[in-house]
Amino acid sequence: MENKPKRLIIFISGRGSNMEAIMDACEDGVLKGLAHVVCVYSNRIHAEGLAKARERGIDTFCISSFKKERAAYDKEVLRWLNGQTFDYIILAGYMRVMSDFLVKEFPKKIINIHPADTLVHQGLGAYQWAFDNQLTETKITVHFVDEGLDTGAIIAQKNVPLVHIETIDDVRNQGLAIEHEFYSEAIKLLITKPQG
Ligand code: GAR
Repeated sequence: MENKPKRLIIFISGRGSNMEAIMDACEDGVLKGLAHVVCVYSNRIHAEGLAKARERGIDTFCISSFKKERAAYDKEVLRWLNGQTFDYIILAGYMRVMSDFLVKEFPKKIINIHPADTLVHQGLGAYQWAFDNQLTETKITVHFVDEGLDTGAIIAQKNVPLVHIETIDDVRNQGLAIEHEFYSEAIKLLITKPQG
């Protein structure tokens, strides 16, 4: 039982490039035999990643958050999640802060990737922040989601060197290339060495 592949639900809001990298890792990479993606969830009907997931034959589900108040929306999300069987919720560009009551239902089960050191920069615009501050290095953080904004316990971090960077697109491209490898590695770490 212990060694059954972990069931992942991936939450997205947009293009889903991290989602695709995780699917690749499950199919033929570092997560092969360790995890598989059972569903992709989005709060946006037109999230590009939903179509990509469907093309790959993965189930998708969407509850639009458009014009909905946070708590009311998250009650709908919780109702849906309570009908699902999964081990981890993987946030991959899910651009919503979850309500406390939702997070508390799944302690150490919701994982996020943040494109900065969460000890230094939280919230949106992390690559822009690194660019504006002319950092020569930034960090990607994979962490548990708790009730705060990017305050959960850190699972793993990886440096992103920002030398020879001229534009914000350079920062994003450099960072995303690392995110795509690193998120799956961090999930592997979580699965193989579960943390308290
Ligand atoms: C990624 O850079 C991810 O780290 C970031 O959104 C992007 C999603 O790209 N997440 C956050 O900023 C969360 N605060 P993707 O949809 O192509 O994976």
